[in-house]
Amino acid sequence: MPWTEIHRPKKFEEIRGQEEAVVTIENFITNFPKTKKKAIILHGPPGTGKTTLALVAAIETDSEIFELNASDFRNKTKLQEVLKPAIEQQSLIKKGKIILVDEADGISGTDRGGVPELIRLIADTKFPIIITANDIWNSKFSALRKKCDLIQIKEPHYKIIKDVLINVLKKEKQFIDSDVLTKISINAKGDIRAAINDLQTAASLPDPSQIELAERNKEVDIFHALQRVFKEQPTNEILRVFDSVKLSMDNIILWVEENIPKEYNGLELAKAYKALAHVDLFKGRIYKQQYWRFMVYENIFLSFGISAAKNSNFSKQNFTKYNKPSRILKIWLNNQRTAKKKSIAQKYAKLVHVGQKRAQKEFPIIKQIIKSDEKIQSELKLNEDEIAYLETH
Ligand SMILES: Nc1ncnc2c1ncn2[C@@H]1O[C@H](COP(=O)(O)OP(=O)(O)OP(=O)(O)O)[C@@H](O)[C@H]1O
Ligand SMILES: [Mg+2]
Repeated sequence: MPWTEIHRPKKFEEIRGQEEAVVTIENFITNFPKTKKKAIILHGPPGTGKTTLALVAAIETDSEIFELNASDFRNKTKLQEVLKPAIEQQSLIKKGKIILVDEADGISGTDRGGVPELIRLIADTKFPIIITANDIWNSKFSALRKKCDLIQIKEPHYKIIKDVLINVLKKEKQFIDSDVLTKISINAKGDIRAAINDLQTAASLPDPSQIELAERNKEVDIFHALQRVFKEQPTNEILRVFDSVKLSMDNIILWVEENIPKEYNGLELAKAYKALAHVDLFKGRIYKQQYWRFMVYENIFLSFGISAAKNSNFSKQNFTKYNKPSRILKIWLNNQRTAKKKSIAQKYAKLVHVGQKRAQKEFPIIKQIIKSDEKIQSELKLNEDEIAYLETH
């Protein structure tokens, strides 16, 4: 049995890094039918706990899960047939019922297709509905989105993934070097399922540190998408090119930004940056004013806009090796540094009774004082990270 199944969380507290989502779902189910919406959509990248959240919500609220899949929505008769037992039978042991529509991405969006049928189901339902999907921004879901509460399931930080791995190992009574766990967790890029699978592979090797980690598919996808945007002529199809890339929009923007200068120069470059500036403009409006509709424009400029910056009417044939965005990494490193500086300054401020702002401002001097006096260091109760920071700065 795969470890991902054996160790799938059974309680809310075991689901890591999704605390907000847990609270929202629990409220949704316990308050149903007095909730504003009758369905919630859990959306986000693979292996982050969407299906698990739904299953655990059922356990924790003592409900029975009734699962529907994409093919059940092909027509009304079929759907009613499948739903009949759920509606008619009252469970003897369980209190409630939850309808789970897992992996809604597969539902067709045409007029006679599944999405309108699902919307009808939401209008009529007596039970709370949980829907999971990877890409809820697909245009076929626009009417559905209005009928549901949206919960974004975010990719967890690698440290959270590492914690999950350590827990699994404990339960399996196995030991693997911390460095190897860190490597697996970072490589997983937010996908906990992938990380646990890699862990199981590593544990089966005579020397777990020899595990060969394939770069996750995500990168293959983004490479492919970039290639199409930069090399092909802009067509309607290009508008959808980022749909299948399992990265957040913000992340895709960084990839495009990083690689524009590798493909374009002169006037092309100027045009491409102009398109990117438009992306940024809409991004700002989406964040500030919550105009989710603008995601459409953000996407248009990022795909078609960048593609149409090309001068020639011919597709580019050469091979380009695209780079990972480096800016985000720099920002992240910088934030880490600032955070440590801040926490050290805070501890110092408390100890010597000066204001925190002042301690931060005078940090260069304070740093020297702390560095030169081991007694202060121990009184400040600095943690490992903070000590490491002082040693290297
Ligand atoms: N937040 C989490 N905390 C602990 N374990 C997790 C978490 N997310 C995922 N897992 C582990 O990964 C496995 C897969 O998670 P799950 O099936 O819930 O992912 P998903 O988001 O539904 O992915 P997909 O979009 O591919 O359906 C789970 O069985 C569990 O072992
Ligand atoms: Mg799932």
